[in-house]
Amino acid sequence: MKIFHAALPISQKESPAQSSQASQRLFSKRIHSSTHQISRNMQFFIDTANLDHIREASELGILDGVTTNPSLMAKEGISGEKDIMKHYRAICEIVGKDRDVSAEVISTDLAGMLVEGKKLAELHENIVVKVPMIKDGIKAISHFTQMGIKTNCTLVFSAGQAILAAKAGATYLSPFVGRVDDISWDGIALIKEIFEIYTAQAYETAILAASIRTPLHIVQAAKAGADVVTCPLSAIMGLFNHPLTDIGLEKFLADHKKVNA
Ligand code: E4P
Repeated sequence: MKIFHAALPISQKESPAQSSQASQRLFSKRIHSSTHQISRNMQFFIDTANLDHIREASELGILDGVTTNPSLMAKEGISGEKDIMKHYRAICEIVGKDRDVSAEVISTDLAGMLVEGKKLAELHENIVVKVPMIKDGIKAISHFTQMGIKTNCTLVFSAGQAILAAKAGATYLSPFVGRVDDISWDGIALIKEIFEIYTAQAYETAILAASIRTPLHIVQAAKAGADVVTCPLSAIMGLFNHPLTDIGLEKFLADHKKVNA
């Protein structure tokens, strides 16, 4: 830590007045970002297989990617390998170049995951192979990492699992914030804990806060240091809401109208 500090320009060094915990976290984040492949700006992914929702989010101009899972595909009534592949391709085409799209394998054994994952990766350059946090899943992630195939380790609920996925070289790690909250634990605390570990260890795996349900989750995930947040369209849209914005705009327009009628 001292070595990194000495390498920083004077203006970036911590002032003694800063609270030690907050400044340490910010400082760590600087170190983290210098060794981390992911940018410090939290990316926005949409968590859906609904093409209209993906289009709407994409049109906002702030969408960086998409995550899907077998339940979300089933919700859209997509079934059969041919249609599933067609649907993933459609998603990739809507979001455009350099936007990661997570497509999950169904197999739970290593051989099956490797076959499925390779097929998915060959489908489109945007595809990231989503693999469950199980023993064969970690083995598969190691293989995919060697092959240069991007992965998203899903169904993560503990810091220990986060360490395993990072060691295997996962591109993304998906801790499920909402599902942890559902059992009255603290999903955002899990993001903070993983952020602390990944920062201390300079792991390059990106923390993708998943199972995000509300706009508040998005804000909290950003504060906790998530590299990416994946959420339904409703949570993204909820970020817009503030009554003072609506009241203020109404007044501006009314005042303009008074003198321009
Ligand atoms: C992760 O990528 C999953 O697709 C998703 O975020 C799960 O969310 P849920 O708990 O709301 O189903």
